[in-house]
Amino acid sequence: MVIKSPHMESAKPARARPFVKWAGGKGQLLKQLHPLFPKKFSTYYEPFLGGGAVFFSLSPKKAIINDINVTLANTYRQIRSDVDSLIEELKKIEKKFLSAGEDGRREFYYKIRDRYNSLPPEDLKRCSLFIFLNRTGFNGMYRENSSGKMNIPFGRNKNPKILNEENLRAIAETLHDIEISSNPFEKAVSRAKKDDFVYFDPPYDPISSTSSFTAYTGSSFAQEDQIRLRDLFVKLDKKGVFVMLSNSSTPFIKNLYKNYRQVKVRASRMINSKTADRGEIDELVVLNY
Ligand SMILES: C[S@@+](CC[C@H](N)C(=O)[O-])C[C@H]1O[C@@H](n2cnc3c(N)ncnc32)[C@H](O)[C@@H]1O
Repeated sequence: MVIKSPHMESAKPARARPFVKWAGGKGQLLKQLHPLFPKKFSTYYEPFLGGGAVFFSLSPKKAIINDINVTLANTYRQIRSDVDSLIEELKKIEKKFLSAGEDGRREFYYKIRDRYNSLPPEDLKRCSLFIFLNRTGFNGMYRENSSGKMNIPFGRNKNPKILNEENLRAIAETLHDIEISSNPFEKAVSRAKKDDFVYFDPPYDPISSTSSFTAYTGSSFAQEDQIRLRDLFVKLDKKGVFVMLSNSSTPFIKNLYKNYRQVKVRASRMINSKTADRGEIDELVVLNY
């Protein structure tokens, strides 16, 4: 159940925005992506949701959203089912963090990271810790090592915004009737039918060996996965589903989708994971309509 705060009854609720910073977030590309969306569709599917920038900007009535990251998917569920408890938890964590000095904050971050890693992925207690770590960790990245432990170091942001209460409440409203799952991408779209719209935003095909950070969970997304995804794209196309996909503009991806319309968009992206360099690069959008 979504509990509304009294002030929300009269005021128009703010439009929800991503509550996590996420590698590959599409926030900066929305203006270029909007003209490319189909004008009308039935159910919206986003199987690689991440921060959900596209989902929130479309704010569809009927949608199935999915991410293989169980804690991320659980946090969306937790916001939907009990945003008040989550806000209370985050208030407590934020207060402790902000009242600690510079060294104290670092120490507190690693203590929370240890606690987070000691809980099983499906434990709901991880959700508030997950948001805290995302807001205060290095560059808002999320990465797990091969044993499933989150290993992002403490971030450099001197003034991180940990709790945005208004946005969390707006997200709870947006998620009201939305189905949320944490399955591999094929399963997440298995019910898509004619006139539905599927937007794929998979981990990027790397533009060079040191670029593109794609290890969102313990396992990374290899070329075989990109090929399986292309086969699924073709299958959905044959069913009459509107399909849109974004990826790096690499020769490999361009060739995989050579039978479909390809549009270039300009993105500012992290081009070197070691030095955190950013640069303007072309990104590819593939459409079957
Ligand atoms: C590029 S990010 C999505 C970015 C997102 N669209 C945004 O705007 O923030 C890719 C997401 O796919 C998820 N993912 C990776 N492999 C997956 C798989 N096999 N099935 C479903 N999701 C997967 C990752 O956890 C990650 O959140």
